[in-house]
Amino acid sequence: MLVEFDDVEFQRDSVEILKGLNLTIMQSRVGIIGPNGAGKSSLIRLVNGLLAPFSGQVRVDGLDVQKHQKIVRRQVGFLFQNPDNQIVFPVVREDMDFGLKVHIKNAEQRSQRIESTLARLDILELADRPVHTLSGGQKQLVALATVLCVEPRLLILDEPTTQLDLRYRNRLISILSEIEQPAWVVTHDLPMLQTFDRVLVVADGGIVHDGAPDKVVPWYVRMYG
Ligand SMILES: Nc1ncnc2c1ncn2[C@@H]1O[C@H](COP(=O)(O)OP(=O)(O)OP(=O)(O)O)[C@@H](O)[C@H]1O
Ligand SMILES: [Mg+2]
Repeated sequence: MLVEFDDVEFQRDSVEILKGLNLTIMQSRVGIIGPNGAGKSSLIRLVNGLLAPFSGQVRVDGLDVQKHQKIVRRQVGFLFQNPDNQIVFPVVREDMDFGLKVHIKNAEQRSQRIESTLARLDILELADRPVHTLSGGQKQLVALATVLCVEPRLLILDEPTTQLDLRYRNRLISILSEIEQPAWVVTHDLPMLQTFDRVLVVADGGIVHDGAPDKVVPWYVRMYG
């Protein structure tokens, strides 16, 4: 999957967050790091049209995201930084089922997909839990399950490990190493990027470093640590 940023400028309340951004991403595992408030979440939201560029264009497999939002959103699975923005239905199973309806018409097949995804994350026991009774980490895992279960062509995860204990964090890393689809991960959890193909550093309105993790991560720690 090819994602292109073509001279993208993005503002919030007339403050420039990203300027003159030109970027081509086609790697399988992409890490996005940078200081708080640098614009990482903004950058990835431009990819599925949750935000619109002030000028310039973002394209997913050649399609202008703004013109083809519906098609693009079906292909790009997006995990929000805050799981409360992700889960809309009162019970875990219902929430996952809703998201799957566009992709799988058969209710029995949807149910199987829900159970296999929850089992893969080792949270099958949460299937019938009311969402408001879940702990923070459990919510983050359920939000992740809703995204993974539709098997999107591109997976974009915004700080997926912030509330996870070590075991679940490692499970997510292992799932990421197994799935075939490309995945982008915005994170402050730098060790998880070790095996990634490419790491981008967002700061000062653009990409200030870009390359293999063994080069970029130590540079980032030196410059911003
Ligand atoms: N809804 C909003 N209205 C106004 N400004 C916003 C809004 N959302 C974000 N911003 C501002 O835009 C800038 C970029 O925010 P963004 O969420 O993209 O940063 P980030 O790199 O993801 O940070 P973090 O590591 O803290 O998640 C920040 O200065 C932030 O305060
Ligand atoms: Mg963010």
